[in-house]
Amino acid sequence: MNKKWWKEAVVYQVYWRSFLDTDGDGYGDLEGVIQKLDYIRDLGADVIWLNPCYGSPDVDNGYDISDYRSVMPKAGTMDTFERLLREVHARGMKLIMDLVVNHTSDRHPWFIESRSSKDNPKRDYYIWRKDKNNWRSYFTPSAWEYDERTGEYYFHSFAVEQPDLNWANPKVREEIYDMMRFWLDKGIDGFRMDVINLLAKQEGFPDSPHPDNISYLGNNPGIHDYLREMHDKVLQHYDVFTVGEIPFVTPEDGVLYVGEDRGELNTLFHFEVLDYIAYWDMGKFKDIQKRWYDGMWGKGWNSQFLNNHDHTRVVTRYGNDKEYRVPSAKCFATLIHTLPGMPYVYQGEEIGMTGVRYESIDDYNDIAMINKYKEAVAAGRDPQATFESLLHLSRDNSRTPMQWNDSANAGFTEGVPWLKVNPNYREINVEQALSDPDSVFYYYQKLIRLRKENEVMVYGSYEPILEDHPQIYAFYRALGSERWLILLNISEQEVLAELPEDAASRLQETLLRNYPEEAGAADEFLLKPYEARIYRC
Ligand code: GLC
Repeated sequence: MNKKWWKEAVVYQVYWRSFLDTDGDGYGDLEGVIQKLDYIRDLGADVIWLNPCYGSPDVDNGYDISDYRSVMPKAGTMDTFERLLREVHARGMKLIMDLVVNHTSDRHPWFIESRSSKDNPKRDYYIWRKDKNNWRSYFTPSAWEYDERTGEYYFHSFAVEQPDLNWANPKVREEIYDMMRFWLDKGIDGFRMDVINLLAKQEGFPDSPHPDNISYLGNNPGIHDYLREMHDKVLQHYDVFTVGEIPFVTPEDGVLYVGEDRGELNTLFHFEVLDYIAYWDMGKFKDIQKRWYDGMWGKGWNSQFLNNHDHTRVVTRYGNDKEYRVPSAKCFATLIHTLPGMPYVYQGEEIGMTGVRYESIDDYNDIAMINKYKEAVAAGRDPQATFESLLHLSRDNSRTPMQWNDSANAGFTEGVPWLKVNPNYREINVEQALSDPDSVFYYYQKLIRLRKENEVMVYGSYEPILEDHPQIYAFYRALGSERWLILLNISEQEVLAELPEDAASRLQETLLRNYPEEAGAADEFLLKPYEARIYRC
């Protein structure tokens, strides 16, 4: 297996608007990120992924960009950004930025020109048609918006305010490559590429027999040509790392994006877990891991994550955010950090932050949730029932402000937070975690240190056992003479793990566990709720 610095890295995702506000405007800012860099370094992360902080009207929290070469005032200034980058590098860490190039904001000067007339030179920077097809977008019932001025529809995979760029136009591609060089020349270490497999569109936009399944938006012919061109013209000239956000893919498609011989991307986020498993499902999860390992190992590099700014926090979604909050947070951490692939920590995950429930739809900010709510209510569905049905997966579950301490607004802001703080901040906060040696934070720190000191966690093979067990997840990682057994009880019951004889007798040393060792326990392998252990064999 080819060794690379990024394969060995642990990424910490900073959703800066919810991280730390230093100027009292209620939004986190880049200065706040600078102030907490030591905290991130002490956790052990090597790479920071910063969500978009470019000029934007903020209809979709920075994913609608109106100026690719500036910093949004809420986040700070270009000077602050450059200082952030220097401070990250001074600590031996790296910084990757979000690259959002499937679409821009409708306020981007390119779009303002494009919509102004049919013969404007920028008309062809976006996708205009006389007729629309029956496709949905992620956020709206139609992927097409009629524009009266020129009597045509433009295409948008997300909100109406996020028109898709026309990647078939070579001028668009050159503009984007130039913009990428602008940031790379500042010294950033790579990109997380927003919905990057959506760039190529289906020829002719045929109607879909199943318009609700929006997978027609991605993986269309031409996508690999664009990514190879981007790599050849831009990426290969820098020592950088790229991770593509790639929905609707199987492992067979995945290797086409990240195959080491393909010259496209380094790794990907696939969404077989987060887009298709709403509540924990052991069977499906194990199957996904096995298929991705079999399909990708030795060919391309995978990523492991169980939440981010779009997906409800793991303890709330898959674990237990009440009596087993701490053990379940540690158990899923063990899982993510021991499965093959790069682990990602989403801010607040390292202290076991939970999802939120606000009183009414008016307290929410997430455009995906609000649009779904409006659409359902307009179609005659009961407002309260609709609201309830949207709570579990609302993106605001993970976007609440970072909980630093038990002072007002969790120490996040001295102003009015843009999104209400989760009321549980008095119990769950960083200050508390740092003062408790058994906290979730210190457990992450140990896991990350284990990875740094043991290549088996990075490059070791993956061999699952007890594959049909509904509660126990057990597997080996092996490299050279090193062989580890990871043993997890992903359930709220005590469960006896009946290990095969040869496995049990070969365990030599416990490297990590999330419950204290019990002297004289009736059965060594009776696992407590959400118990996690790592053994050396
Ligand atoms: C990605 C982002 C998400 C955003 C969307 C449109 O999925 O992670 O937050 O809304 O792309 O850019």
